[in-house]
Amino acid sequence: MKKDLLKLADLSPQEIVEILDLADKLKKEQKQGIPHKILQGKTLGMIFTKASTRTRVSFEVGIYQLGGIALYLNGNDIQLGRGEPIRDTARVLSRYLDGIMIRTYKQRDVEELARFSTIPIINGLTDYCHPCQVLADLQTIREYKGDLKGLKLAYIGDGNNMANSLIVGCIKMGMKIAIACPANYRPDAQIIQWGKESGLLELTEEPKKAAANADVFYTDVWASMGQESETALRKEAFAKYYIDAKLMKYAQKDAMVLHCLPAHREEEITGEVFEEHRAEIFDEAENRLHAQKAVMVKLMCDK
Ligand code: CP
Ligand code: NVA
Repeated sequence: MKKDLLKLADLSPQEIVEILDLADKLKKEQKQGIPHKILQGKTLGMIFTKASTRTRVSFEVGIYQLGGIALYLNGNDIQLGRGEPIRDTARVLSRYLDGIMIRTYKQRDVEELARFSTIPIINGLTDYCHPCQVLADLQTIREYKGDLKGLKLAYIGDGNNMANSLIVGCIKMGMKIAIACPANYRPDAQIIQWGKESGLLELTEEPKKAAANADVFYTDVWASMGQESETALRKEAFAKYYIDAKLMKYAQKDAMVLHCLPAHREEEITGEVFEEHRAEIFDEAENRLHAQKAVMVKLMCDK
């Protein structure tokens, strides 16, 4: 049966570890110039109805390095943008392609695409979650800190798609996660409940509380794609939800800082902290390539 990656909850902890291990292996091979054309002759369709730099380029380069090719399908250029139903798009594309990565607004649409496709579907970000990003994040944290179990991640900012996926990813790996966000901007209620039951999720409105003894800081933009009209309102609501050198004093001395990017300096993170931690932030961006290659191999390889 085909397998999809629609959200991290679809993966068991064991499957996440397998993806991270494979991502490390592929990264090492690529650095050493060892070819790994595991998906020779395969074609990945990439549907985008939102902007992207990292996701688009890393998937396209990734499938190429694996011996396959990618097709960039802008939502406005295909008939989907003119109202062709998702289910028909899924049925047609399944006849041509070996896998689809989709970035769009509604999680429901990605799930419908998966339901009517006979090929693997990979979620490249929805308003609800961003599983590929968090796989790269976990790979990066493991590179810097070793074992993930027992580490604490402090997320400061909007309870958005990133927060939702980080809660699931961190907890599945046995990490503690503290989310500091305004009361009106909490992560998904069901994910909060699931997280609370694990005993590893802390929800607070106080950034300092979240930061206490953290090993990893994480933040994301205050206004996500599709929320541009709320920018002014959100600037006010999130005014105290940022990472600066002062907040970092509450954490472990060697705490690392991650950001999915793109970043808004002097909003969710100061330029000073961003530049000081650029090594891990751009390793994280690079790891999108390696983690996604691992995902594609796991889902699209016949052997
Ligand atoms: N982090 C991330 O998904 O970046 P893009 O929006 O550039 O793809
Ligand atoms: N929360 C951001 C993440 C971008 C990678 C957005 O959805 O725009």
